[in-house]
Amino acid sequence: MQDLNGAIISFKADFLNELNAADSEKSLDQVRISFLGRSGKIVELMNSIKELSAEDKKIFGPLLNELKKSCEEAFEQKKKLIEDLTLKAAGTKKESFDVTSYKTNQLKGSLHPYTHVKEQIENVFISMGYKIVEGPELEDDYHNFGALNIPSDHPARDIQDTFWLDLPGKLMRTHTSNAQVHVMELGKLPLAVFSTGRCYRNEATDASHDFVFMQAECLVIDKNISLANLFATIKVLLQAIFERDNLNIRVRPGYFPFVEPGIEVDMECPFCKAGCSVCKKTRWIEMGGSGLVHPNVLKSCGIDSDEYSGFAFGFGLTRLVMLKYGINDVRLLNSGKLEFLEQFK
Ligand code: DAH
Repeated sequence: MQDLNGAIISFKADFLNELNAADSEKSLDQVRISFLGRSGKIVELMNSIKELSAEDKKIFGPLLNELKKSCEEAFEQKKKLIEDLTLKAAGTKKESFDVTSYKTNQLKGSLHPYTHVKEQIENVFISMGYKIVEGPELEDDYHNFGALNIPSDHPARDIQDTFWLDLPGKLMRTHTSNAQVHVMELGKLPLAVFSTGRCYRNEATDASHDFVFMQAECLVIDKNISLANLFATIKVLLQAIFERDNLNIRVRPGYFPFVEPGIEVDMECPFCKAGCSVCKKTRWIEMGGSGLVHPNVLKSCGIDSDEYSGFAFGFGLTRLVMLKYGINDVRLLNSGKLEFLEQFK
């Protein structure tokens, strides 16, 4: 009997010791198993009552029940405490989460080659006092063709395979020259603008053709504008793109309904001295169309063609980007492929 009394006292002392020491859900569970579980120490104590006399059973029975109950209560209290602490710790973790932190091996974005070249050229034009403008990609017949001296029965419409929309008279612009019309319509003269953007042509795609591509357009309207201004501007632009002090250009007559005279511009190959695969051994690379703005275009936009004249040119920006970076398949530019894009940091 005395033994049982001592066992109860030391059971309680051990239990409380270990309960106090438990500092995690795991160690708490171990305390439960070893003291209060089905084969824990409390069961041993309970079983020992069988050997007692009927009188002692009356004393120790309630004592043991009381012991079990108080231990279980103490256990539940401690369990709640540990759960609260765990929750609080998780909360603190959330509160101190640093949204600006990032993993160093995370993928970093890069500028598209179009953006690199576009920004480079725009800076050149801004430094010469030009304004950067944008024309709409979804356009109407008049701004894409009519005002540019391309009436509805004009064969030049067949040169550019157009994506006509279901909306009457609406199309996806075939060139950035539509931006010229929008700017001239504003009626603020003199003007010097530069514009880049997507153009669309309904044609099959291959390594050098895509149905969507980028063009760059320049327009200057002032008094006494001549071809000399046009050629000088083109030279400045090409030299900036290819980072050369002197890059020659060559001009040939060309037909574009919105300029007179119309001129095709070739640039000296920036990659070789005696002919290479880029210039197909000719030393010259075709750049685009240009000329002096046709009086009919000036008239359509309400500009007096006796007082004002202007020059314009339009280049394939896609082509320039491909040349500059040695890209051999135009489809890569719109592919969204990371292996391709990551090269242009
Ligand atoms: N818009 C023409 C095209 O897409 C290119 C062009 C030629 C633009 C002559 C011009 C220009 O501004 O004067 O083929």
